[in-house]
Amino acid sequence: MSKVKISVAKGDGIGPEIMDAVLSIFDAAKTPLEYEFVDMGKGVYDKGFTTGMTDDAKISVEQTGILFKGPMETPKGGGVKSINVTARKTWNTHSNIRKFKSIKGVDTVFSKAGIPIDITIVRENIEDTYGGIEHYMTKDVAVSRRIISRPGSEQVIRSAFETALKEGYKKVTCGHKANIMKLTDGMFLDTFYRIAKEYPQLIADDVIVDALCMKLVYAPQQFECVVLTNLQGDIVSDLCAGLVGGLGFAPSANLGDHIKIFEAVHGTAPDIAGKNLANPTSLLLSGTIMLNQMGLEEFGGAIRDALIKTIDLGFHTGDFGADRSSAIGTKEFAQEIINNLDLSKIIDTDAEKYHKPTSLAQNRMMISSNDEIETVGVDLFIASEQQPAEIAEIVQAHLDSDMEVTTITNRGTQVWPSGSVFTDLVDAYVVRIEKNTTNEVKKKRFMEQAIRLYDQLNIGSIEMLITINGERKYSLAQGQKVNALS
Ligand code: NAI
Repeated sequence: MSKVKISVAKGDGIGPEIMDAVLSIFDAAKTPLEYEFVDMGKGVYDKGFTTGMTDDAKISVEQTGILFKGPMETPKGGGVKSINVTARKTWNTHSNIRKFKSIKGVDTVFSKAGIPIDITIVRENIEDTYGGIEHYMTKDVAVSRRIISRPGSEQVIRSAFETALKEGYKKVTCGHKANIMKLTDGMFLDTFYRIAKEYPQLIADDVIVDALCMKLVYAPQQFECVVLTNLQGDIVSDLCAGLVGGLGFAPSANLGDHIKIFEAVHGTAPDIAGKNLANPTSLLLSGTIMLNQMGLEEFGGAIRDALIKTIDLGFHTGDFGADRSSAIGTKEFAQEIINNLDLSKIIDTDAEKYHKPTSLAQNRMMISSNDEIETVGVDLFIASEQQPAEIAEIVQAHLDSDMEVTTITNRGTQVWPSGSVFTDLVDAYVVRIEKNTTNEVKKKRFMEQAIRLYDQLNIGSIEMLITINGERKYSLAQGQKVNALS
């Protein structure tokens, strides 16, 4: 049987133990994989690589297209980036898929109530606040930029619909907060319903993320596949892990168009590392998803069945099970899974459908529209301890006649031209200047206006205000009235 090469990083802490256990099960199942072991994680940071991966590891993953990894430790303190986040972002694994399914033998409140759970959370993996674009604006105010893009949203939402089809689900739900974040989550939600039209066989609906959390705890069986932006997806997927007995039972796949990363969702568990106590289930389940994704479904299915049978027979590591005194070690648990492997169903040896790596000559530019953009104003982010009216007076004294100050805000709340003295202020304001004519005002003029005000105000940054096809694409301040021209 021809073999498929994958890159394997064992990771830190319990990583090597659980990876060895999982690979021993793969080998016993005669899975046609060839492992290229690569260095990533703590040892690599210690050698001075601030990304946590060696150049050889990067080359290997880009050549094989598959990274199977154990948990890795990111050193605390500045200067180094999390290897996990770096890997997901660098290789554009846009969709984090976590499957939460009740496992017989793992007791939860829902299993005891006879309520089966089968939910897949598809979390956007690149954008959102995970862009890590943060600054101090003033001595008292830090800001984070939350980037949501239309092409990025399209990728993850399409993944969600494809996953739903593969899993045999009937419904895909979009979790969001578009009632508050009208442009970012609004774009995500619009994109969701646009892509949904391509999948008429699936029901598409949406729910606000806070209500989603309540409903997941109250009646999880009403959800099948749920797609969310990055941070919301991160939180909701841990909530779902709790529904099925904890993180140890939740596999995770990071899918990109070219590279895919499969990993356990838990960390390195330093408290039990090297003691043969760790539970390899999460990594093994991620491994079975990897096999399914690589076109090796028969192997993935046989291994999953063996795992479920083993747990059902009462074998367990020390982190779960009703009677903790009967726990067995990592190696022994893997051996029981091997004993329960039934390879008789593996008949498909069609190597043609196995995963094949792609090679790219240059970065792909993802553009999803040719819409017309017009700049209609500028937001000035300033540091000031003055009162709003004093700031307005300064700006108005230096404004071109075809522009006006439409609002001054503090932490997003309008404090000028109207507001309340009960709004407490911090030392960072946003002064919004918009054109007051239907004529075009060149973008450069708003820049020049900002520069002219630079001597009067302590400007930290500016943000251009745009319309797309005539539609306003910037948020109104809390309390701001719509400008007659916008
Ligand atoms: P953790 O998940 O490593 O441990 C939390 C608790 O769960 C500990 O009591 C641990 O013993 C237990 N536990 C975790 N996995 C287990 C397993 N397979 N079997 C039995 N018990 C298990 O989380 P923690 O302590 O917050 O993080 C430790 C380190 O792991 C940190 O350096 C963190 O950065 C890293 N980490 C790495 C991740 C990754 O590589 N994807 C994800 C999360 C954390």
